Amino acid sequence: MATLISGKDISQKVIDEVKAGVAELHHQHDVRPGLAVVLVGDDPASQVYVRNKIKRAAEVGMASFEHRLPADTSQTVLNALIDKLNADPKVHGILVQLPLPKHLDEGHVINAIDPAKDVDGFHPLNVGALASGENALVPCTPLGCMIMLKEAVPDLSGKHAVVIGRSNIVGKPMAALLLQANCTVTVVHSRTRDIQQLCKQADIVVAAIGRPEFIGAEWIKPGAVVIDVGINAIEADGKRRLVGDVDFAAVEPIASAISPVPGGVGPMTIACLMQNTLTAARKSLQV
Ligand code: GUN
Repeated sequence: MATLISGKDISQKVIDEVKAGVAELHHQHDVRPGLAVVLVGDDPASQVYVRNKIKRAAEVGMASFEHRLPADTSQTVLNALIDKLNADPKVHGILVQLPLPKHLDEGHVINAIDPAKDVDGFHPLNVGALASGENALVPCTPLGCMIMLKEAVPDLSGKHAVVIGRSNIVGKPMAALLLQANCTVTVVHSRTRDIQQLCKQADIVVAAIGRPEFIGAEWIKPGAVVIDVGINAIEADGKRRLVGDVDFAAVEPIASAISPVPGGVGPMTIACLMQNTLTAARKSLQV
């Protein structure tokens, strides 16, 4: 039986710390950290994520500024909003929910965000800082995964970590963080040969491929620690439910520790967004 790495419980600790930090900033500097969230279009999953982010911001005592734009918003209009948020002293963090509608250029939008307010950690300046081990705003999902991993494996040094997936949002920054924690890191993806054999060598597996219950028992070395980043909605027995990229029932008896879906990485991502917004607010005051 594997230990359950509960993102629900661990995220609550992060949230409590952030809440205390927000109160302190307000008390000592009369500043309330502020998060702007921009949603373009009406993607149902994005709507849920944005709602949850706004809800959490209120819970920790932050100000939040929600900007919902129609799906046919032009690049010019979106850029003008980003410029306005960059210049607004009440806004310490800016998050543009991805994916954007096809006609908009994500790279262009990410580049337009002030790196000091880039609480997603997607701006090239933050990506570069993370890659070279400098102080950076770190993408929320991999940051959350690292906090969970450190609970399960206090000393990561020398461990072989396999990251499944190479996205800019999860896989690549995850690999950078694990490397910084002195892991030996392998990144595998859709073009990797012998992917299962490589995964089976891992002490730590981080699965971020977006395929429901794809990782089965035959991928996992006995005693490995498994972090499941996937959030996939499936229909089973006429009911809709959320599953990860890992076949939990098959892998749980083999792993030494595993994160569940739901209640795993999901709540950690939002908690880390709050932490990044607090960090950005503190940096803006140089405290
Ligand atoms: N879409 C899926 N994950 C993320 C994320 O971490 N940040 C943003 N901005 N959009 C996302």
